[in-house]
Amino acid sequence: MNKNKILSIFDKNCNLDQNPPIWFLRQAGRHIPEYYSIRARAKNFIEFCLNEDLIIESTILPLKYYDIDAAIVFSDILMIPWAMQRNVDFIKNVGPVMSPMIPNETKILNNINVCELMLPLSKALIALRKKIPNETSLIGFAGAPWTLACYMIEGQSSKDFLLTRKAVWSSNVWFKELINTLTIYVADILEMQANAGADILMIFDSWSHMIPSHFFNDFGIEPTRNIVNILRKRKIFKPVIGFPFKAGTSLEDYSYKSNVDCVALDWTVDLKWASKNLNSNIVLQGNLDPASLINNSGNLLNSVSSILKTMENKRFIFNVGHGLSPECSINNIKKVIKFVKEYK
Ligand code: CP3
Repeated sequence: MNKNKILSIFDKNCNLDQNPPIWFLRQAGRHIPEYYSIRARAKNFIEFCLNEDLIIESTILPLKYYDIDAAIVFSDILMIPWAMQRNVDFIKNVGPVMSPMIPNETKILNNINVCELMLPLSKALIALRKKIPNETSLIGFAGAPWTLACYMIEGQSSKDFLLTRKAVWSSNVWFKELINTLTIYVADILEMQANAGADILMIFDSWSHMIPSHFFNDFGIEPTRNIVNILRKRKIFKPVIGFPFKAGTSLEDYSYKSNVDCVALDWTVDLKWASKNLNSNIVLQGNLDPASLINNSGNLLNSVSSILKTMENKRFIFNVGHGLSPECSINNIKKVIKFVKEYK
């Protein structure tokens, strides 16, 4: 049996009579006080993501606090738009901003060596794989093409991503070219992370709920399937987790057609529905509401227990249904980990 607890779950014949492995989305961020002193050592957030030592320190930080089964490498999905010269910046209390792409007008740069530009990420992963225990999975990641296109067209986050949705309908050829270019870059960066030592790869489609349903297959499923297929052609056989955030009933198609090995579920998904309707040949991950970790009202462990019960004897990775926010409490997170580890 594979000693690496999360990797063992990807084996179809794994022992299901054990507690599920556990890690947390955005575990390396702002809910841990030391994070702020690590971040303060970089000139800005991009420099942070390009500094090998700071990447290593922040990736390891949550392992010092928690008995968790994975470390997710510190980086950001917006490093690809940065590499595509979109002038990405992270502004306090605003979030990420960049130069917006004008559909049909802005040239799509399709000859960029994203791996060369993100070499510190690769170097950090090589060092991290040696530093962390063999039992702990190292996770590499990237944003899905749709979500990256959303930020690149809008130039920032948005309530309804109207400019992007307009581009889908009125500048379809240009939009497809953007998605196809991003697909190659995402595959490149995931391949680089796998070769540098990432055991598992994750694709975040944080704005998948903005895809018009008519186009969910074209822009939610297809690009992910293409990325997985490119990776397999390049002899990268490491498990891929897809996270189509709030995709609702489209999760069903996604689970069968995207070729991912695991679907991460957001906190709105009913796990009973998911167990019944999603592809039973793949692993599921999720889906505790991260808001339950802010103030513990007493319902927290009931909710954890109900997740564990529903997913008992299934190939499942315990996680939150979206990233931890700065207000999440370290003590609540510790309580959840203890409960999951001692469940059986
Ligand atoms: O701990 C980890 O999960 C590893 C690192 C990680 C970051 N971003 C670091 C980060 C990961 C996996 C991401 C993914 C990411 N980045 C996503 C997908 C997941 C999701 O939340 O839906 C998205 C949409 C982004 C884009 C992004 N980066 C936003 C919207 C923001 C600002 C607001 C926010 O949600 O935090 C960032 C900045 C960012 N990326 C921070 C961190 C720790 C906060 C920076 C800071 O203020 O110190």
